[in-house]
Amino acid sequence: MKVLHTIAELREFRKQAGRVIFVPTMGNLHEGHLSLIHLAQQHGDSVIVSIFVNRLQFGIGEDFERYPRTLAQDCAKLETVGTAAVFAPAEDELYPHPQQYCIEPPAIADELCGKFRPGHFRGVTTVVSKLFNIVQPDVAIFGKKDYQQYFVLRDMVLDLNMPIDIIGAETGRAEDGLALSSRNAYLTPTERAEAPRIYRHLSQLHDAISGGARDFEPRCALVANDLTQHGWKVDYVEVRDAHTLGMPTLQSTRLVALIAAKLGNTRLIDNIEIEL
Ligand code: PAF
Repeated sequence: MKVLHTIAELREFRKQAGRVIFVPTMGNLHEGHLSLIHLAQQHGDSVIVSIFVNRLQFGIGEDFERYPRTLAQDCAKLETVGTAAVFAPAEDELYPHPQQYCIEPPAIADELCGKFRPGHFRGVTTVVSKLFNIVQPDVAIFGKKDYQQYFVLRDMVLDLNMPIDIIGAETGRAEDGLALSSRNAYLTPTERAEAPRIYRHLSQLHDAISGGARDFEPRCALVANDLTQHGWKVDYVEVRDAHTLGMPTLQSTRLVALIAAKLGNTRLIDNIEIEL
């Protein structure tokens, strides 16, 4: 496995890499990421993983500084699953000067997480476009845990005619249902025991809606209320149309229930898709 730090090294490697499957990450890799690599291997010749904590997508007061940076451990894990190359640029390799041209996502990026993290998706679309230009992958894989991110990036590739297939990977979960996330490392033992409540609520919403319930708003309000009573600070509990991320309509054929809430200092997000 090659560990590459410069754009020039990556471009040189790319020349002989064949069909490239790209998995962009911010590092601190867990089982969920490794399952993305396994999925990636089914789609091409070389899996390239990027590890870069992207300042542009963090707001003021968010966890950019304390985001865990664990490159040596990440590379050791990636080596065991047959990764062809890791691209781990320093910050001034990707941003030698303040980024001047940015990819402005559409209004849907200002809803859900975007409402609570202004500018977040603009930072994501901009860095992912830069990484796409550098890596020139045939396929890129994003976890569906970050459902809105997956949606926005899939839409960006279509809208900007980027010749890249986007694959959404199912969310990896701990045995108690908690979605695997690098931010779980911030949770205290008490918070970790409480954290699966989100997934329990999502599963109940899934079952109720699959069973015919259409009173989305009051159900979501009850969930938000229960989370608040258990010490969470809720950003949103919503049911959306999975194809548009807009509000469900009578024509919706697939929905997604999404939750974002803070437990102590840790913001967790999760979602569940619901076929109608
Ligand atoms: O999901 C992430 O880890 C990041 O948002 C991404 C896609 C690597 C962009 O920095």
